[in-house]
Amino acid sequence: MDFSLSEEHIMIRDAARDFARTELLPGVIERDNAQKFPTEQVKKMGELGFLGMMVDPKYGGGGMDTISYAIVVEELSKVDASCSVIVSVNNSLVCYGLETYGTEDQKQKYLTKLATGQSIGAFCLSEPEAGSDATSQKTTAIDKGDHYILNGTKNWITNGGTADFYLVIAQTDKEKKHKGINAFIVEKGWEGFEIGPKEDKLGIRGSDTHSLIFNDVKVPKENRIGEDGFGFKFAMKTLAGGRIGIAAQALGIAGGAYDLAREYSKVRKAFGTEICNHQAIAFKLADMHTSIEAARHLVMKAAWDKDQGNDYTMSGAMAKLYASQVAMDVSVEAVQVHGGNGFVKEYHVERMMRDAKITQIYEGTSEIQKIVISRGLLKD
Ligand code: CAA
Repeated sequence: MDFSLSEEHIMIRDAARDFARTELLPGVIERDNAQKFPTEQVKKMGELGFLGMMVDPKYGGGGMDTISYAIVVEELSKVDASCSVIVSVNNSLVCYGLETYGTEDQKQKYLTKLATGQSIGAFCLSEPEAGSDATSQKTTAIDKGDHYILNGTKNWITNGGTADFYLVIAQTDKEKKHKGINAFIVEKGWEGFEIGPKEDKLGIRGSDTHSLIFNDVKVPKENRIGEDGFGFKFAMKTLAGGRIGIAAQALGIAGGAYDLAREYSKVRKAFGTEICNHQAIAFKLADMHTSIEAARHLVMKAAWDKDQGNDYTMSGAMAKLYASQVAMDVSVEAVQVHGGNGFVKEYHVERMMRDAKITQIYEGTSEIQKIVISRGLLKD
């Protein structure tokens, strides 16, 4: 068993780390305060190939493995989790979904732009009454022969206002329950497609989260993904990989908060010495680092499973469940190590604590991950 990163993985990690420090760190507090979408930063991430990392080079992607992708998401998240969720959704939900299940025409028309960062994508499953209970889709797509008519509302959509292309899940036949669900590619600007107000969020405030409203939107039949009735499985299979991305994001938030706490503890003095010399602080650092290492093993194992062609549904869910808890715990402890300064924006850790929370909610809450894991455990 070899736990070391390859030379290529180290190069990718260093490139992402350097990019995060030089391009994401400046302005991260201001973007968080103003809920400002990182337009310039996303453009540069597209140029670096971070937006279509795993896509086949023939469609403009980087042709990299999932481990590389997880490393990049982790490094970006150490500094700016708003940027990393844009990367995560575009790579593992939108690009992966299209590359794996789309037609050649769909790939040529949409994937080539998404993989190169010319366009941004969004994944639209959640609804006001269908978050965890994803089969209860109220959005409908009625078959009209050569097109569908789409009606309904989607909620909490990452990249909601900034995306160019949207993968929208909708009910096409209520009687068939989850087998009557389909996924469609919808373009921004189509008649009847309205972008709702931007959400004012606790964390990842730089990312762009909206509700979307579809009023009799005409969707050509060639924009359906997969066979009729494949939409729910499409969502589940795509989310299984998306969860590896969010697990890597959680790992990065924890790592970023830990790094800051460690550095701070080496310079801040109390009771006549640097606070890292007090066991109360040193033990916190030990616990933080140990849990981060454990989370890293789960995240890398899930990424490795995907690269090996193994089933990664359970390992991805376990990685997300555990890493998101670690992100929460470590970021809270990082604030504690900083004392009063931890409560102040300029020290970054309060933002990381706010950002950590969403990793326990999106792409399936922690409770959903436990459903996925326990069903996997008990299936035979
Ligand atoms: N892979 C393939 N197929 C799967 C699957 C998977 N991982 N999970 C379920 N399925 C299939 C099942 O086999 C079943 O198919 P058959 O009838 O042919 O056997 C079908 O899907 C229905 O499965 P279940 O009966 O298990 O469905 P369920 O209603 O009990 O729900 C669930 C399962 C795991 C709870 C699911 O609803 C779920 O994952 N919910 C959470 C949704 C979610 O993660 N939302 C996040 C929104 S996206 C987001 O957050 C993006 C963002 O912006 C960052």
